[in-house]
Amino acid sequence: MTTLLQINASINNGNGESSRLADQFVAAFHKKHPKATIVVRDVAAAEPVPHLNAERFGAFITKPEDRSASQQAVVAYSDTLINELKQADVIVLGLPMYNFGVPSQLKAYFDHIARIGEYTEKGPVGKLTGKKVYVFAARGGVYEGTPMDTQTSYVRDFLRFLGMSDVEFIYAEGLNMGPQSKQTALAKAEAEITRLAA
Ligand SMILES: Cc1cc2nc3c(=O)[nH]c(=O)nc-3n(C[C@H](O)[C@H](O)[C@H](O)COP(=O)(O)O)c2cc1C
Repeated sequence: MTTLLQINASINNGNGESSRLADQFVAAFHKKHPKATIVVRDVAAAEPVPHLNAERFGAFITKPEDRSASQQAVVAYSDTLINELKQADVIVLGLPMYNFGVPSQLKAYFDHIARIGEYTEKGPVGKLTGKKVYVFAARGGVYEGTPMDTQTSYVRDFLRFLGMSDVEFIYAEGLNMGPQSKQTALAKAEAEITRLAA
């Protein structure tokens, strides 16, 4: 059975444009695959992922038998995030642009799923293969295809590092450039959602 993992990274909870576009895609996907299991992980608003610090990283690199109770809890949390990814066939990421980059909570999430030992048995070879990823990138300005698009190559490279190379980006840009620009961008993204979910 198919499992879809939706990762929302907007600080605006379900009201973020990236989350809304992701929701629309997931609803269309679910309609087409009614038996699919849908799992939602909100990394920024509902359950913000804590930033990686020396204490948390220390827990990751301590041998399992030597971990304290608090270190075990840190690793268990990271394991939960990793297992969600392992179990997913399809991953949908709502990706806002904040201050020219990805939300810091998404970076924190990435820091919790890229654990040494999980993915790097023989150097950096990702094990999360065979998954399809859709990224819904919402931006106030317009950056696609320019050097100021710091997100696309970063997210693509990071996912490839984990083993996910089948990644499709859907952009909604110019959302803060007036109502007409926003309407046009959302209509374009929605048309892509209809095409992708068909
Ligand atoms: C704190 C903050 C920083 C932002 N920085 C940028 C930016 O650097 N470039 C940009 O194009 N839009 C920026 N925006 C606009 C967002 O990209 C836009 O509102 C988008 O819809 C965010 O996704 P969301 O609605 O899913 O949260 C920023 C918005 C916020 C709240």
